[in-house]
Order: sequence, then structure tokens, then C-alpha cells
Amino acid sequence: MTELLTANEGGIARAADLLRRGGTVAFPTETVYGLGADATNARAVAGIYAAKERPSFNPLISHLPDLAAAQAHGRFDADATALAEAFWPGPLTLVVPKAAGSAICDLVSAGLDTVALRVPAHPLAHDLLRRVGRPVAAPSANRSGRISPTQADHVLADLIGRIDALIDGGSTQVGLESTIVACIDGHVRLLRPGGVPREAIEGVLGRRLAAPPAAASETEASVLAPGMLASHYAPRAKVRLDARTIEAGEAVLLFGPGRPRGLDAAAAVLNLSRHGDPVEAAAHLFAHLHALDASGAATIAVVPIPDKGLGEAINDRLRRAAAPR
Ligand code: TXA
Ligand code: MG
Repeated sequence: MTELLTANEGGIARAADLLRRGGTVAFPTETVYGLGADATNARAVAGIYAAKERPSFNPLISHLPDLAAAQAHGRFDADATALAEAFWPGPLTLVVPKAAGSAICDLVSAGLDTVALRVPAHPLAHDLLRRVGRPVAAPSANRSGRISPTQADHVLADLIGRIDALIDGGSTQVGLESTIVACIDGHVRLLRPGGVPREAIEGVLGRRLAAPPAAASETEASVLAPGMLASHYAPRAKVRLDARTIEAGEAVLLFGPGRPRGLDAAAAVLNLSRHGDPVEAAAHLFAHLHALDASGAATIAVVPIPDKGLGEAINDRLRRAAAPR
């Protein structure tokens, strides 16, 4: 049974209570919906893996209400502190060495001696985390390998009956998962492009970051940035990138004002942003992929999208959606 909770004080209190008692609760963040469990309770965390059918080598992000709470679980060097101060609360996850006193269980870090920490900006998530008073482990609230949920009904379609509760907080604002940056041994590495553009992070650090490695194989991905499997975010339809001409019957994902040749024969058409704004496009990405997939077309054709700002994260997700599987 999955309880559907309203985004009010009663609903949040009920969600916090379920989490403290070891339940699994899906809740909105500003990026995507997360499927939460008490990060200090291995049995609770196992419930996330079970609901998602997620490969267990994949470590999880722990969510906290503020930087002070995060510092009880991770060791922040000067770069990590500067990034946390600049972007928290917000769509940035920091991977740092686990603090000696942290009660985050080994299942969350999948045996690594580092932890991934994030302070989300969504007021509802913040309220919930404050009430729980413990780190909440939460991957995106979808079955493993499926498109990330940006609306409560996406979560229900994938997980109803498999989780204890869902708080409906409407559509998420950013629409892309958090940017993941590792600050370990004095090195800063971008592990996953996401809601904070690389340029903004480089601006705070005062230096350039290397691009994240394209996940080649499952083994390689699990070592570099576990969870960055090549074929993540997969719709049922095949995804065709850099489409400049549309084939009859394809579903089409547009970006900007242009109309590719053959568009009139498309089965369904959605535009990420008519003005070519990557922030607006990010917010629509997963919802549009869900909708085009639901059209039943065998292929989703995607026009070229420039790599600037959030375009880097959008193209990363689209490449994973298009990867052979
Ligand atoms: O926006 C987000 O980040 C959302 C919301 C719910 O907060 N969460 C999310 O979680 O996208 P998930 O589980 O789908 O992605 C977590 C990523 C994975 O790629 C995982 O491998 C990586 O974080 N990760 C977690 N702990 C790590 C660690 N210690 N070292 C390296 N990567 C880690
Ligand atoms: Mg995910």
C-alpha cells in the first residue's frame, strides 16, 4: 500500500514519521522526486534498492537540511566548503570523505569510504529533512534505468504499491538531477553534469574542471562515478539524437524555434524551449520524454541541442537515453 500524502504540515509530519520508522517515502526536491529512507538504517535503505530494483553497487546521495548537518557526515576541505556555501541549498551534490562519527550506513556508500551529500532547495524537502533529523538517502524515485520523475504521477506509474508513501508537491522546478562534484585528496572532479552548470562551479573555484568521463562499460562506470551507467534514463522508445530530418511516424523533441524537415509527418511533437533557453529545457526534459514515450511511437527523434550551460547535462541525459540496451 502506498499512502498519498498532501504537501501540508500533516502530510510532511506523517512522511517524517514513516521515514524515522524505517519506511520508504517519495518526496519532491527542486531537481527530481527522490525515494527517501533513513540513511542510518540499513534495512530501510534496502527497501529503496528493492523498490527500484537497483543494482546494489550503486551508492546513494544523503540529503540534509543544511551545511552544519552535512559536516557531521563528511569532511569538507576548502573547495568543498566554498562550493557548499555558494550552491547550497541547491542542485549540487558533494562527494567527500566520510566523517569518522557519521552514522550513514555502509549500504548507502556501497562500501566506499566517501559519502555523497546534498542540501536540497525545495521548501517541502527542507521541512521534511528538518523533521526527520537524520540524513535521508534518496535516489531518483523511478525504477532503475527508467526516466527520472519530475511529477508525482511519474513516481506512481513506476512505484505504486512498492513504496510506503508519496508526497505530491507538483512539478519539480529544475527538472534535472543535481550536479555531482567530488572533493577528495585536494582534487575536484565533476562526476555528473546536472542542475548547476559547470561554468558556475568553475567560477567559484577559479579554475577549469575536466569533463566527466563518458561511461563506457558497467564496470568502468561503477568505479568512476557509480550509477553513471551508459544506458540510464531509458524510455521504451528508441532515441535518435542530432535529428535534422524527421521520418514519418517518429515522435519529435524540439529545442528552439527551428522546424526540421519532415516534421509534418511526425506522430507527436514537443518543444523543450521555443526560445532555446536551456534552463527551461532542463525543466521540461524528463516530462517531455515521458509524454513522447507514451505516444507509442517506436522512435523519439531529438534535434541538436547546444552544449552550453545546462545544455551539457541535458545532452548527457539524452546520450544515456539513446545508448544501446
Ligand atoms: O538531484 C538528485 O541528485 C536526485 C535527488 C533525489 O536528490 N538524486 C539522484 O540520485 O539523482 P541517484 O541515486 O539517481 O544518483 C546518485 C548518483 C549516482 O550516480 C551514484 O553513483 C553517485 O550519485 N554517488 C553516490 N555516492 C557516491 C560516491 N560516494 N562516490 C561517487 N559517486 C557517488
Ligand atoms: Mg537516478
